[in-house]
This record gives sequence, C-alpha cells and structure tokens, in this order.
Amino acid sequence: MRPSRFNDHANTPVSFQVVKQVIPYLLEFKWRVAIALLCLVAAKGANLTAPFFLKDAVDSLSGTEQLLAVPVALLVAYALFRFSNTLLGEIRDTLFGRVTERAVRRLSLKVFNHLHQLELNYHLNRKTGSLSRDIERGTSGVSFLMRFMVFNIVPTLIEILFMAGILLINYGWQYALVVLAAVTAYGGYSVKATSLRTRFVRETAQADSKSNGIAIDALLNYETVKYFNNEGYESQRLDAAQAKLEKAKAKNRLTLFGLNVGQSFIIAATSGLMLLMAANDVTNGVMTIGDFVLINAFLMQLFAPLNFLGFVYREIRGALANIEHMFGVLATKVTINGGEAKPKISANSDIIFEGVGFHYPNKPALFTDLTMTIGGGSKVAIVGSSGSGKSTLAKLLFRFYDNQTGQISFAGINSKSIDLEHLRQSMAIVPQDIALFNATLRDNILYGRPSATEQELQQAIGHAYLQPLLERLPEGLETQVGERGMKLSGGERQRVAIARALLKDPAILIFDEATSALDSHSESQILTAMQDLQRGRTSITIAHRLSTIKDSDNIFVMEQGQIIEQGNHQQLLANKGKYFELWAQQEG
Ligand SMILES: Nc1ncnc2c1ncn2[C@@H]1O[C@H](COP(=O)(O)OP(=O)(O)O)[C@@H](O)[C@H]1O
Ligand SMILES: [Mg+2]
Repeated sequence: MRPSRFNDHANTPVSFQVVKQVIPYLLEFKWRVAIALLCLVAAKGANLTAPFFLKDAVDSLSGTEQLLAVPVALLVAYALFRFSNTLLGEIRDTLFGRVTERAVRRLSLKVFNHLHQLELNYHLNRKTGSLSRDIERGTSGVSFLMRFMVFNIVPTLIEILFMAGILLINYGWQYALVVLAAVTAYGGYSVKATSLRTRFVRETAQADSKSNGIAIDALLNYETVKYFNNEGYESQRLDAAQAKLEKAKAKNRLTLFGLNVGQSFIIAATSGLMLLMAANDVTNGVMTIGDFVLINAFLMQLFAPLNFLGFVYREIRGALANIEHMFGVLATKVTINGGEAKPKISANSDIIFEGVGFHYPNKPALFTDLTMTIGGGSKVAIVGSSGSGKSTLAKLLFRFYDNQTGQISFAGINSKSIDLEHLRQSMAIVPQDIALFNATLRDNILYGRPSATEQELQQAIGHAYLQPLLERLPEGLETQVGERGMKLSGGERQRVAIARALLKDPAILIFDEATSALDSHSESQILTAMQDLQRGRTSITIAHRLSTIKDSDNIFVMEQGQIIEQGNHQQLLANKGKYFELWAQQEG
C-alpha cells in the first residue's frame, strides 16, 4: 500500500503552503528583489528589441553589394542588445543569490529548531540519514523554487504575450494565433506529463533517503556490524536500496524522455509552420527577407524560454516533491509545550507525583496510579528490577514525555504549566546511557554550562575525579573523545557526565545508575563526591547496587511501574519485603 502522502491530492495544499512560506523570505531583501526584477524587465525589453535591429540590418543589406555604415551600426546594436540581455541576467542572479541563500539559512535553522522541539519519541523513530537527506533536498528545493517562481514563470508568460502582440501588430492574427496555440499546447502537455511523472520523482526521493538511512545506520553501528560479521548483510541491504533508487531513476528518466520529446515535437511543428507561412508571405511579396529573419529570431527567442519554462515547471514539481518531506517535518506538531509559570524551584521544593498514569505510545500502561513525594533537599533513591520504569520517571520529570493522567508538580505547580526551559534548567541528570559530542573533553564538560569559568571547570573535574584521566592523556582537556564519546571507557564517560551535570549546578540532581560502569574503587570515590554534591540539593539516585544508596533519606522500591515499598534502609530491612530480599541477595 502506498502511503497517503504519495497521492496527488495530498500534494496540492503542500505546494500552496510552501509558496506561502517562501514569500516572507523574499520580503526580507526588498531592494535586492526589486532591483533584480528591474534587471529582469530591462533584459526582457532588450530581448524583444534586438530582433528588430537584425531585421533592419537584413533589409538594408538586401540589394547592396557593399557593407554600409547603417547595417553595421544595426548589427552592432543587435550584438549589444543581446549582450545586455545576458549581462542583466547575470546581475539579476548575482543580486538574488543572496536572497535565496538567506532563505536557505533561515529555513535550515527553522527545521533544526523545530526538530529540537519535537518529543523524544519522534527522534527515537527517525532515521538520521534519511532525515538529513530530506532536509538537504528540501532546502535546495526551496532555493530553486524561489528563483524560478520570481524570474521565470510569470515573466516568461508576459514575454510570450508581448511577442504574440508584436506578431499580431506587424504580421497579422494568423501568426499570433499560431504562437498562442503552440504555447497552450506546450503548456497543457507539460502540465499533464509532469503530473504523471511526479510519482516517479517522489519514488526517487524516497529511495534516495532510504538508502542514505541504511548507509548511515550501518556506519553508526560500525562495531556491531563487525562483531556479528554482518558486513555482507549490510552491503546487501544498501545495494538493494541502491537498486531501488536506480530503478526509480530509470523510470524517472524514461518519463523525462517522453516529456522532452513531446515538447520538442510541439516546438518543431510550430516553427516549421510559422516559417512556411513567412516564406509564403515573402514569395508573395507581402514580407521582406528581414521580416522572415525577424520571425525566425522571435521563434528562437520564444521557444528557448518556453522550453526552459517546461524544464522549470518540471523541476518545480520535482522540487515540491522534494520539499514536502522537509515541510512535513516542519508540520509535525510539537506535542510537549511548556506553560507560562516560572515558580522558583529550589533545593527546598518538593516534587510530587499524584496518581500518575503513563504509557509509551502504542504500549500498555507502565504507570497506572503512581504517587510519591520527593521531599525538597532530601536524598531519595529508587531501586527495582530492570524495566520497572525507573528511567522513565526521570524522563517524565524532564518532560521528555507527558503523563496521560495525574500530575507531577514542582514547588506546588503542575509541571505541565511550567515554562519548559525554566523547568529543565532546575535539573541535571547523569543518564544511564551517556553519549558525548564528538569534540574535546573540555567542550563536553563545559556543555553543562558553556559560560562557566576555568576555575569552575577545574572544580567540577575535581569532584568527578577526572584528574587522573586527564593526567594520563597527553592532550589533557583538549583530547578528542570520538564519535559519541566512544574513545573513552564507560566509566570515563560517566565521570564526564557527572562533571557536566555539576557545572549546571541545578537544584535537583538525578543519577540514573551513575556508577554502574565503575569498578568498586572508582565507585567509592564517586560516591564520596556524590555525597558532597547532594548537599544543598534534592537528589534522586536510581541504583542497582543497594549498598550505594543505603544512606538515603527515602528509598522507593519499584516493581512493574508500582511502588511496592518505601522507607529508609533500616525500615525497609525491618519490613522483610522485597528490599530485604534484594539486600540479602546482594550482600550474600
Ligand atoms: N521510548 C520508549 N518507547 C517505548 N517503550 C519504552 C521506551 N523506553 C522504555 N520503554 C519501556 O518501558 C519500560 C520501562 O523502561 P525503563 O524506565 O527504562 O526501565 P528501568 O530504567 O527501570 O530499567 C520497559 O519495559 C521499556 O521497554
Ligand atoms: Mg533505566
């Protein structure tokens, strides 16, 4: 089954929407656009005038043996007018280049910002390679669209009308009629044939994005590919996608062949007919040879832009097909919106879950009625088996997802009505899976607060026990950490993550299995550090090893999205429940 966006009806509103979105970018450089348009008009004027010099030159040549001053001047004028046509065109393109480049810049930024507003789930579902290809094709499509919308379609149509007018006045209605009929036939044919082609253009775009997606995914997972000896499998997958692309392109080209041949046929037939009519008029003495030359020159001048118009129309349809994916991204609704409230969230603010119900999209409920209070300034731990929903709690706090029922409040305010930026500013997390930017250690740590001073940076490094690592590295803080930070060990990545969370200096600090990748020596170092850091903040520690959290003020034991026990270490042990069981298991 073909997805609905591949039918033609779905396309119309997108085209309209695209054109509407492009107009503000044109208005950003009013003067440039105006001057470019002036160049355009002047060039068209030159274009329409030049053939008359040619005609007069030819006429004054007839019957004379010598090259006279008059025809020479006329020929020079003809050449000059032709040249000025090109020159004006170049000036116009140079001026307008700035406008399209700015539009591309604005749009790229808009798409980028929008992508960052979309919820986590959108990003978990996307394919980086395909998406980047869609955006690439989209922005270049927009630039193309702008240029041709302004300079080709309308001006060429006007030029054609003028030409028909000139023919009508000078040579009678028959010529004007033939021209208009040819233009109509040409236009009708192009529109019809092009809309039939659109499907193949889309297929090509889709195959292109897909194959890029596969290639990038395989490269991102380089190690996994190697571990499982799946180079062959991956190259087969890529080749299959490329084969589809090849096939789509072949169909694309074949239909293009049909389109071009049809257009050329219309042009050739019209030219032949018009020249025959002119030749007939010349033999009948109604026209001079100069007129014949003039009509021929007009024909060439008419069909060149007309042919170009055919090309432009085709490309614009192609561009629209390419653009629609990018605009599809822009049209994706932002589902997680912040409110207006900016309550002061300090280390004294309680975080309260009240009857929270949540399920991931298309998944059964994870939490049905979760109620818990995380006291301001307290050290809270969450323990429980893997998959019980601990990391999800952290994601709900950050509002990466929204709970469907109940509410989560900070300082007494429902988190859904708090300004998102403000909310997230109050928290920092050392996540379970740490990915770093492919940059230096310094950049990655400073990411917690790019404006931090060198002293604050050093302090964070000290607290996260990164010093020994830095001393071992010849380039120290300037060491590149590699793609996603993979040149560091898991433990080293965790320390970087801790340092950068500290730099953010939040009221609420969340550790999601922050010491799971550390050996017991490093773990105890980090735990000491954590104790320092937890002072004066609310801390939520998700942990696997109970020994690491036994001095927490409050420990929640989670099981399949439910809190089955809570209390401090002593109370929970005395309870002789799940916690007691886990403790006994771990401590032997
Ligand atoms: N983005 C997601 N989409 C759908 N299901 C998810 C997603 N993230 C986690 N889950 C599921 O939710 C459950 C809880 O996950 P998680 O909170 O990561 O557990 P824990 O951190 O306690 O090990 C798991 O069953 C997991 O498969
Ligand atoms: Mg987890």
